Amino acid sequence: MRIAFVASECVPFSKTGGLADVVGALPPALAAIGHDVEVYLPKYNQTRLSSPRTLLRSVTVPFDDEYRFCSVLDGSTYAGVKFYFIDYPPFFDREQLYGTPAGDYSDNAERFALFSRAVLEASKIFGAPDVFHCHDWQSALVPILLRTLYAEDPAFRAVSSVFTIHNMGYQGQFPPETLPLLMLPWDLFTIDKMEFYGKVNFLKGALVFADFITTVSRKYSQEIQTAEYGFGLEGVLRSRSATVTGILNGVDYNVWSPQTDTFIKARYSPDDLSGKLVCKQDLLADFGVTTPDLQLPVIGIVSRFAAQKGFDLIAQVIDRLVREDMVIVALGTGDKEYEDLFRRLNQQFPRKILVRIGFDNALAHKIEAGSDMFLMPSRYEPCGLNQIYGLKYGTVPVVRATGGLDDTIEPWDPRSGHGTGFKFSDYTGEALLSTIRQALTAFKDRSGWHTLMRNGMVKDFSWTSSAREYVRIYEKSRQLRTVHNGEVVTV
Ligand code: ADP
Ligand code: GLC
Repeated sequence: MRIAFVASECVPFSKTGGLADVVGALPPALAAIGHDVEVYLPKYNQTRLSSPRTLLRSVTVPFDDEYRFCSVLDGSTYAGVKFYFIDYPPFFDREQLYGTPAGDYSDNAERFALFSRAVLEASKIFGAPDVFHCHDWQSALVPILLRTLYAEDPAFRAVSSVFTIHNMGYQGQFPPETLPLLMLPWDLFTIDKMEFYGKVNFLKGALVFADFITTVSRKYSQEIQTAEYGFGLEGVLRSRSATVTGILNGVDYNVWSPQTDTFIKARYSPDDLSGKLVCKQDLLADFGVTTPDLQLPVIGIVSRFAAQKGFDLIAQVIDRLVREDMVIVALGTGDKEYEDLFRRLNQQFPRKILVRIGFDNALAHKIEAGSDMFLMPSRYEPCGLNQIYGLKYGTVPVVRATGGLDDTIEPWDPRSGHGTGFKFSDYTGEALLSTIRQALTAFKDRSGWHTLMRNGMVKDFSWTSSAREYVRIYEKSRQLRTVHNGEVVTV
């Protein structure tokens, strides 16, 4: 089967969060089981291509005020996957991918509409795939256009679309005037299509028009059909519930394994954990702690700083938390509010809360390896990858039981020796504090803790089985759009 991924970020070319890890790892896993996979991405300022070659010098994308002309670059083939980049410097040659800590770029609708349209036009020249697999609102126009403006295009008649929700919190909502600006028809501005409380909602459009919808854990697929987690789109999802599936993200263990990781000071495995202590020392040294007490547990945080991630809970109980015997090491960037919060905590408790504001991939690996626990108190979490990386690195996850965090972490039971981490349900500072205390108590029992670490390290969250689940969805979507005697029969 020929599958075209359309997404706004992908390791190693561009990254703000887990979407990039998924788009970097799932296509090679599909290629490995015999599929023909290509990935379309924007060419950002931060995208480094080894030998970029222009494949299409000019693709026309009409806007109502002017035509824009972008080009398509050959990003070459890695792990059996072909990469294409939509190049339009006025839109993508910027400091960040989506915006600054102060807010989103004001022309994001135009930026990602141009991207989506250029992908459709380019794919007609390169050969249309069987399935477009689109991710998050930035590529939502692809399934929308396929069933509207491009519905009569013979190149796409039998092409189906699968849309993956990585996060309901980001929907791409814009003022109504966006529709004519992008030359989209006004009949999309109805409550059963893209209209949402007076705005145009890209994500909603994708949920209406995609053939199949997936999200990144089973639990999140259920949660988003409720008012608490649906961000207002729970009704749309419920109306399409027969086409909604939760498929857990996998991990690329070529990138995230303490046995091979080149960013960390020493390699280690479940059979020989000695290297982990070297990593702990190295991590603390990185934060200026030169004579560390290595008995003291280190709690790691690596995160986008956003309301989703639950750091307001830490603020609620910080005075009591800092009295515990532990050190927090945090790396993150994002909303100004949370960057300021962590800066403040670091100033108040400089020996207990060590903070680095920024995006630093090498340091993210060092924190996974050098910490004893990994903290994710998320308000909601579609899947979450860091806790799964934590398992592999013997860094015991302490999480809130929501979405993928709940699906991937089993509570530690010291009596039976079963379990991989600690989790709490109530979204309160008290629940967080008591769960951290539980973990700190467990840490003191060294032999129990080693069992707990090893339980996580031997778990297998590789992509193999999830990739096969995606193939089943692609096949169903293809059956939906079978061409009989030149006519598309929708079954
Ligand atoms: P989300 O996609 O919501 O941000 P995930 O847990 O799925 O959460 O994935 C986050 C990914 O982004 C991980 O690979 C993590 O290491 C990385 N990451 C997040 N923040 C940073 C940062 N400040 N520096 C380096 N890597 C980061
Ligand atoms: C999103 C979610 C995160 C998920 C990632 C990859 O950014 O917040 O939970 O792991 O996408 O699917």
